[in-house]
Amino acid sequence: MAITRIMLLQLFLTATTFAQVILASSDPTFTLPKFTSSDKYFGQSDPDIKVDKVNVTDNFGLESKFTWKDVIDSLSDKEKLFFIQRHGEGWHNVAPSNFSSDDWNCYWMEQPGRDGVIWEDAELTPNGIQQIENLAKQVNDTENLPWPEKFYVSPLRRTLQTWELTWKVLNEEKNVDQAPLVKEFARETYGIDSESKRHNKTYITENYPFATFEANFTELDELWKPDARERSQHRKYRAAQLLSDIFDDAGDAKVISIVTHSGLIGSLLDVVGHRSYPMATGSLIPVIIHRKPKKTKTYTMDKPDKTYSDVCPNPPSSISGAPSDYTTIAE
Ligand SMILES: *[C@@H]1O[C@H](CO)[C@@H](O)[C@H](O)[C@H]1NC(C)=O
Ligand SMILES: *[C@@H]1O[C@H](CO)[C@@H](O)[C@H](O)[C@H]1NC(C)=O
Ligand SMILES: *[C@@H]1O[C@H](CO)[C@@H](O)[C@H](O)[C@H]1NC(C)=O
Ligand SMILES: *[C@@H]1O[C@H](CO)[C@@H](O)[C@H](O)[C@H]1NC(C)=O
Ligand SMILES: *[C@@H]1O[C@H](CO)[C@@H](O)[C@H](O)[C@H]1NC(C)=O
Repeated sequence: MAITRIMLLQLFLTATTFAQVILASSDPTFTLPKFTSSDKYFGQSDPDIKVDKVNVTDNFGLESKFTWKDVIDSLSDKEKLFFIQRHGEGWHNVAPSNFSSDDWNCYWMEQPGRDGVIWEDAELTPNGIQQIENLAKQVNDTENLPWPEKFYVSPLRRTLQTWELTWKVLNEEKNVDQAPLVKEFARETYGIDSESKRHNKTYITENYPFATFEANFTELDELWKPDARERSQHRKYRAAQLLSDIFDDAGDAKVISIVTHSGLIGSLLDVVGHRSYPMATGSLIPVIIHRKPKKTKTYTMDKPDKTYSDVCPNPPSSISGAPSDYTTIAE
């Protein structure tokens, strides 16, 4: 009962006031269903196999004593097989190497780009496109791979582009008519840096016409702010809310694809009790996730958002290429 009331309450909170409302309430806790994951079938999920010994290029980490049919047959009605996919390399992944970390954190990451290289809501680099083409080929070449019945994607350009190059291409080849649902909460840690700011809904619709949107998806990006950055405790809560929404939305579908980001993937794995597993750009891991019908977990959000001083604790006296009064930009 408590869950339903809290979920209803959340429906009333607009995205704009989300973090503030939580902070203003005297009880900064939110209760959501509890999730677990299986460590039985995949090398990446098995704590007895060292992370650097896992080869997800080999049948997506499925241990050789199992088949994909074993995996699907094992799923209870409370479990789903998630294909968790990270976008290919974007310009924001490569741009920082051109800067000192202070120059990047204190100035350049707040800018849209430099010299024609745009990292605001970054698109894929040519290398990132190649990574996804390789992944699409790996998916295509994997015998008996269960096919996703539902697709979810973050609203950022690099994930929409990744979805297009993987699943739009492959679905068309297989004559599967499936559109991805854009989920606001599938986005990356947001605020202050320009890479985490999304385009408006009209832009997304025009440039990624295959996309469909959750009912409460807003025209403008109401979460991103130039002077406030989401904390990991909030991202973790958001990952659990996202999973909960997906379980509700997907109904009986067993195989779920989600294209998202490294930070959010870290929180998803954390929320389901999966070991920490680093995901390279352009990679995909299958994970079995179980939503416990009667158990809940409480998320506490008692810390304020990060400020500009948190991301730039030691502003350098000057920054290469920046105006001399640069520190005022985010104040
Ligand atoms: C959108 O609605 C879902 C419930 O359908 C809710 O869980 C989610 O938090 C909402 N998203 C935003 C960004 O408000
Ligand atoms: C990983 O698996 C792929 C596919 O089986 C194989 O081609 C590749 O050599 C393997 N990589 C390593 C490091 O073993
Ligand atoms: C890095 O800097 C070089 C030299 O200015 C430039 O040519 C290149 O495009 C930059 N790379 C990125 C990813 O911004
Ligand atoms: C998938 O496999 C089919 C049949 O082998 C081939 O025609 C097609 O080009 C492949 N597609 C991709 C994206 O690898
Ligand atoms: C949406 O974004 C596009 C491209 O960035 C811009 O031209 C347009 O004015 C924006 N629309 C709204 C309603 O803000």
